[in-house]
Amino acid sequence: MIATKKVYKSLILCKEHQTKFKMLNQVILKTLPLMPKELVFMFAKKYISGAELITAVDTTKSFAKLGGKTTIDVLGEFVTTKERALHEKSMSLKVIEAINEYKLDTYLSIKPTSLGLGIDYNFGFNNIFELVKLAKEYGQFVRFDMENSPYTTLTLQIYKDIREKGYDNCGVVIQAYMRRSYDDIKELLPFNPSIRLCKGIYVEDEKIAFKGKEEIRDNYKLLLDMMLENNVKSHIATHDDDLIFYAEKKLKELNYNRDNYEFEMLLGVRENRRNDLLKRHNVRIYVPFGEDWYGYSVRRLNENPNMAGQIFKSLFFKN
Ligand code: FDA
Repeated sequence: MIATKKVYKSLILCKEHQTKFKMLNQVILKTLPLMPKELVFMFAKKYISGAELITAVDTTKSFAKLGGKTTIDVLGEFVTTKERALHEKSMSLKVIEAINEYKLDTYLSIKPTSLGLGIDYNFGFNNIFELVKLAKEYGQFVRFDMENSPYTTLTLQIYKDIREKGYDNCGVVIQAYMRRSYDDIKELLPFNPSIRLCKGIYVEDEKIAFKGKEEIRDNYKLLLDMMLENNVKSHIATHDDDLIFYAEKKLKELNYNRDNYEFEMLLGVRENRRNDLLKRHNVRIYVPFGEDWYGYSVRRLNENPNMAGQIFKSLFFKN
């Protein structure tokens, strides 16, 4: 452990060379699997509320004091057994119960594959519908996160099927990197949907997804325009200044009703920017919690390797 610290420290000391800094990030990411989980938790705690539901309740209460809202996600995805999916469902039911018990200004976000969508459509549908039904009884909402492309059509189908049953307390996510998203939003418009618009996080083939940073931004703007011009309840989920500026300008131009949109960010990401947005808009943060905190955190760090170096710097240069 002490030796590992020394290696990291010496790499950090060479950080004036960008390549060495990148190397540090790569070393950290490569050695993550060898580190004690307690140490990895020091990274993780920035991005997750904790392993237990009560930590998500506490994070929601703290953010409410700043005037913000949250959405709570039980960590876990790509479940392959019905038994596990039922366990995930029971965790999500507990979240709905806790939101009711503590009277929180939040709602549940779910990953359809964690509830069995990858096993069987009807099985996944029934689990998700049960959550939406309980949420409706308590006057709550449920958001269906969007996962990778094999599940896009299925997830949108679940949303449409539930809406057709008369349940309007649910919403979807659209990913701006997907070439199909313009048509998907067009098809959703008759449902008067609530849409969270994000760039998209999974690795997709360029045949179906935009790959360049600018083309993803351009598509995000195009889709946002379409949503706002159709008076869609719009959840603008991004930390990208270019898109935030664009959205603020467009919202002002359209004199968009403050209750008909929100900015959304991930817990622990760009908190200063988030607090600045809070002065002018409704802001919601995505609060994941649960036993799968380890897998989730490693995915977050892999997305943004620079963050690994930043966190290690702050850990080892304290005092
Ligand atoms: P970009 O990645 O360019 O980030 C802009 C800047 O923000 C970066 O330069 C960095 O400074 C900072 N930043 C961004 N992400 C960071 C991170 N993880 N750690 C530290 N800094 C970071 N995706 C999906 O496919 N399906 C979904 O259902 C959702 N749901 C969702 C909900 C909410 C509330 C958010 C905010 C995001 C999602 N996403 C998602 C993830 C989304 O698709 C995307 O991957 C991330 O938001 C990053 O994209 P940005 O638009 O922030 O731009």
